[in-house]
Amino acid sequence: MAHQSALIAEDIEAYLKAHEVKSLLRFLTCGSVDDGKSTLIGRLLYDSKMIFEDQLAALEADSKRLGTQGGEIDFALLVDGLAAEREQGITIDVAYRFFSTDKRKFIVADTPGHEQYTRNMVTGASTADAAVILIDARKGVLTQTKRHSYLVSLLGIRHVALAINKMDLVGWSQQVFDQIVADYHDFAARIGIKGFTAIPMSALKGDNITEPSANMAWYDGQPLMRWLEDLPVEDELQAKPFRMPVQWVNRPNLDFRGFSGLVASGAIRPGDKVKVLPSGRESIVERIVTLAGDLPQAAAGQAVTLTLQDEIDVSRGDVIAEAKSPPAVADQFEATLVWFDDEHMLPGRPYLMKLGTRTVSAQVTEPKYKVNVNTLEHLAAKRLELNEIGVVNLSTDAAIAFDPYAENKDLGGFILIDRISNRTVGAGLLHFALRRSQNIHWQALDVDKRARAAQKGQAGQVIWFTGLSGAGKSTIANLVEKKLHAEGRHTYLLDGDNVRHGLNKDLGFTEEDRVENIRRIAEVARLMVDAGLIVLVSFISPFRAERRMARELLEPGEFVEVFVDTPLEEAERRDVKGLYAKARAGELKNFTGVDSPYEPPEHAEIRIDTTRLAPDAAAEAIVHWLDGAGDRRS
Ligand code: ADX
Repeated sequence: MAHQSALIAEDIEAYLKAHEVKSLLRFLTCGSVDDGKSTLIGRLLYDSKMIFEDQLAALEADSKRLGTQGGEIDFALLVDGLAAEREQGITIDVAYRFFSTDKRKFIVADTPGHEQYTRNMVTGASTADAAVILIDARKGVLTQTKRHSYLVSLLGIRHVALAINKMDLVGWSQQVFDQIVADYHDFAARIGIKGFTAIPMSALKGDNITEPSANMAWYDGQPLMRWLEDLPVEDELQAKPFRMPVQWVNRPNLDFRGFSGLVASGAIRPGDKVKVLPSGRESIVERIVTLAGDLPQAAAGQAVTLTLQDEIDVSRGDVIAEAKSPPAVADQFEATLVWFDDEHMLPGRPYLMKLGTRTVSAQVTEPKYKVNVNTLEHLAAKRLELNEIGVVNLSTDAAIAFDPYAENKDLGGFILIDRISNRTVGAGLLHFALRRSQNIHWQALDVDKRARAAQKGQAGQVIWFTGLSGAGKSTIANLVEKKLHAEGRHTYLLDGDNVRHGLNKDLGFTEEDRVENIRRIAEVARLMVDAGLIVLVSFISPFRAERRMARELLEPGEFVEVFVDTPLEEAERRDVKGLYAKARAGELKNFTGVDSPYEPPEHAEIRIDTTRLAPDAAAEAIVHWLDGAGDRRS
């Protein structure tokens, strides 16, 4: 316990002080299932003496019981903490470990190697300064090594160590080592890894981990721990322009208004001119406030509260940046997207996008291609499946401040969240803003929605009918329109079958096409509401996410969802258009309810049970509801 326990015992103050000023390096380890990753991490922890005595006793006991090293200490057990993982003999999730040496503190993200866990690796890599890519000297450069290296390069990790492990099992052979390095060299260059440090080692025996190995005198480079200690990292972030995404607006009383957040890059001093994005307003930093008092300067990695000289509008999610080199602001981008979810990505579907402290709604407007990470080939893609990586065009519903990921990970990296399940479904890196978005502006118009509605003596509204094919949507919508029309209302009925003859004639019935079908109709319905019309929409609209998107395009109260609830058996029994019969006979693919899903509404304003209510009575009930709601709204 050389450096640690001696100091802890003699001078705890000095120990803590030394610890505080040490720099922190975050790194990632990646390798295939049995390249010896866990053993390596266990060894790093052990050699840095960050394992406490009681843990060590447990480890020795466990090693005897479960270990694979015949009674010797099995370092992998240190890391493979969870019982379930031990039994399976694999590491499933990203595990973060902490250790330190005299020079530096480390956080290591241990990510599992097998194919389906790209997600974990991306998660672990997103904050890493360096990567240790493990190779089993007996096996050399594998497909997995290539996949991991590609991700490491993609995620912009510039310090790469190629840890060629298990050298003891190849007789400490320089020739084997040289061959692997040569193999890797070509591939690394192709994927944009500019340089790497190859280290021959044996994690199990402790060769070239902290001390140079006596078994490999031919190697004159550093052992892994020295390499990790000597990497230059912090300065890179500090040298970049100042950026601080605002985490929250700190307003304890009327006299104080500060903006709190973590400095993502650069440094700031009172008196510095800043710009707030996306609004573009400028001011000057007055104070840098922390719990420990005001600071003369704050730099990347510090959590601070800034006060500004002017009373300008700043909200959570905004970015405070150096005025002379601010991030760009845009709402359309090209990005790389890594898909994490079992359910594939759907272009046009609105996902929540979190970038920095900002959350907006975002859609993939155009998948461009996906990358085969084994061969680096670009393949045409309409969607992305679990663990696939693609390049897409993306649009957000509000302009956001961003930097290209290659310049600033915090302002260029994002995650996508499914709005219904709340799962993180993807992670991405922004490349650049699409130029087209920057040349299109909102044109101010003098006659607005309210004026148009007032002239018609009504409030514009969408009555959205959803239900299975043959449920009776169009029949009921048609009757409702007739009744409203007779009352002198200005209406329009958008019907699925009809619109698919014109505006949407290019669309079929795949999930992607249905999403696009509904997106277009939702936009058209919004325009019609803007024109002051009562719009009846009759589409199967099978997915909750898109119905929700349609709702959110409108103001509260403007969207009335009518669930035309006809059980599948009943719709199929009626089979007015003969389509169910065709679908069952296999002549019609992707038929809703047969081999394509329908997600019934959970909170529809109106539910019509067509097994109990005849179409005319249903229409009557809807008009009645609308009249009531109309009264309530006015
Ligand atoms: S939606 O799912 O994209 O909302 P939409 O309402 O536009 O569907 O179109 C549904 C109509 O298309 C059905 O009423 C039916 O007449 C016809 N149709 C043809 N093929 C299919 C299919 N595979 N699934 C559902 N409806 C189909």
